[in-house]
Formats: sequence, structure tokens, C-alpha cells
Amino acid sequence: MPDRILTNQELESMVDTTDEWIITRTGIRERRICQPDCATSDLAVLAAEEAMKDAGIEAGDLDLILVATVTPDMVFPSTACLLQGRLGAEKAAAFDLSAGCTGFIYALAVADRFLAAGDYRYILVVGAETLSRITDYTDRNTCILFGDGAGAVILGRGSGPNGILSTYLAADGSGESLLYIPAGGSRMPASHQTVDDHLHYIRMQGNEVFRFAVTVIPECVSKVLEPAGLSIDEVDHFIFHQANIRILQTAVKRMKIPWEKTIVNIERYGNMSAACIPLAIAEAVNDGIIRPGQLLLMVGFGAGMTMGSALVRWGR
Ligand code: ACO
Repeated sequence: MPDRILTNQELESMVDTTDEWIITRTGIRERRICQPDCATSDLAVLAAEEAMKDAGIEAGDLDLILVATVTPDMVFPSTACLLQGRLGAEKAAAFDLSAGCTGFIYALAVADRFLAAGDYRYILVVGAETLSRITDYTDRNTCILFGDGAGAVILGRGSGPNGILSTYLAADGSGESLLYIPAGGSRMPASHQTVDDHLHYIRMQGNEVFRFAVTVIPECVSKVLEPAGLSIDEVDHFIFHQANIRILQTAVKRMKIPWEKTIVNIERYGNMSAACIPLAIAEAVNDGIIRPGQLLLMVGFGAGMTMGSALVRWGR
């Protein structure tokens, strides 16, 4: 996590909002923001190094690096390649994956398939974002939501009971206008005009995204439980994308999941897109909340629109 904390009180002095409105409508109290000289790959390196240390492997052991992000350092080369170079992971292939806030789940599913195919032994999966770089701090509808951060996991091929049990990925491209950045791509290249018009920042139809999220979360939950032959009651921890506390409360209520089974850190970090889920896992593991052998169910949803879930038996 970056050290710099952006509080709701500070946002009160930037846009027409209040601490009370933000907490009540989103559950967010503060978020982390990178310093100007920090890019997504800088956060990714720190997360990756911690993950490798925890897994007891060296950079030279990695066969593949996947970085899920919507805020790459630059259009190309990929942030995964920058990370590969910085880590010295010489034999690793590397590529980025763009699936909005579902990016980490998409990357997990891809890594799982590569491992199952027998191509690779160790894969580094990173969710890393500097959303502060694409946030319009004059737009109160969006600037209260987002933060920066990174999280990483190592997946290894093994034969034990732990690992990814099932994954589910889906997309609905008809929702392209719910969440997007208008300029900076081939449709609307950067120009003085696009900068003046704030077109390089996130545009969002919050209400519609909210509706989408509470509808797809239950679907994503059942899509990974069914093939594994498991039920909601057997899951130890639910890790949902941290977009808005009310989204999580609504979804959890609909599915009759006990709130204590959800891992939530939105209050301190806000929405960090692809970084939310791996960071929530890392914190919960460090705090002894997630323990080896426990069943985790992760759900992501975001720009695209994309959605996806993963059922994982935690451990080596
Ligand atoms: N402070 C005070 N008032 C505000 C603020 C603010 N920061 N933002 C909006 N308002 C106002 C609106 O202008 C509106 O005023 P009006 O009624 O006079 O027009 C009123 O509050 C209600 O606005 P809504 O948009 O209806 O508020 P809502 O309760 O829906 O909350 C929010 C808005 C927090 C954005 C919510 O819709 C939400 O969280 N949606 C999901 C967002 C999300 O998940 N995004 C994922 C993006 S991740 C990615 O892929 C990069």
C-alpha cells in the first residue's frame, strides 16, 4: 500500500461532499494514494516480492507473470514485462490482463488453466492499480471511491487438496458505457481538447453499476459452488470486490450469508479495482483470519462489464 492516506475530510475540501455522505453511501473512510513518482509497476514489485518470500520461491523459479490492471504504467510494454525485468524473472513469460475490477479473478482463471495444461510450474498473479491517476478529483460522483494498491499470489502446480477448485468468468459488453474512460485509446487519441474536457478520467453510471453488481454476485457464487458440489454454508470466507459496502450488504442479505464470513477492508482502502481481492486476502492471511485448508469464495465485477468468481481451498 502507498503510505499516503486521503481521508474523507480532505475530500470535503476538494469537492462538494461530506464525510457523512461518503461513509453512509459507500462505507469508505479513507483510501491510499501514490506519490507522483510512483507507478503501478512500483506497487506490483513490492507485492510480488512479498508473495515470493511467503511462498519460498525465487524470481528465477517463475514461469509466467500475469498482471491484472486498468492502470498500466504505459500503453506498452506491459506492466507485467516491466515487473519481469525488475524482479529478474528471466525465464518467465509476461503479459497484462484487462478485465476491470474482475481482473484478478480473470488472471487466476488463466493461471489455473496454464498450470492444468502442464506448461508451467510457478505463476505470479498480481492485481495492481493506481486509480488515482485516472480519477477526476473535481467529480464528486467518482473521486470519493477510488484508491491505489497492489496484491499478489503465487500459484504452483501440485497434487494436494488445496488450490483452485473452480472458476467462472463472464462478460456483458453491452454495458460498455456504464464504466469507461473516453479518451486515450484509438477511438479518441489524446489531444489538448481531450485533456481540457477531462476525458482521460473514469466515467461511471454509479446506479447502474450498483444494480449490475447486486444482480451478478449471487450468480457468480452459485456458478463456482455447483461444479465443486459445495454449498454456501461450507464456505469459510467470502471475498467480494470492494466497490461499495451497500453492494456487499445487499448481496450478502439476498444470499443469506452471515456477514462475519465476508472479508471487508473498503473502509480503509476504497475501491482499488483489480487490487482489492488479493490485498484483502493478504491482510486476512497475515491477521490469521484465513487459515490453511479453509474454503474461500471470491467474486469480482467491473468495467466491461465483466464478472467472475473463484473457489479456492487455501494453502500450499
Ligand atoms: N457527495 C455528496 N453528494 C453526492 C456525491 C458525493 N460525493 N456523489 C453524488 N452525490 C449526490 C448526487 O449528485 C445525487 O444528487 P441529486 O439527487 O441531487 O441528483 C445524490 O447524491 C444521489 O446520487 P446517486 O448516484 O443516486 O447516489 P448513490 O446512492 O447511488 O451512490 C455511488 C452513488 C456511491 C457511486 C453508488 O451508486 C455506487 O457505489 N455505485 C457502484 C460504483 C462501483 O461499483 N463502481 C465500480 C467501479 S470500479 C472499476 O471498474 C474501475
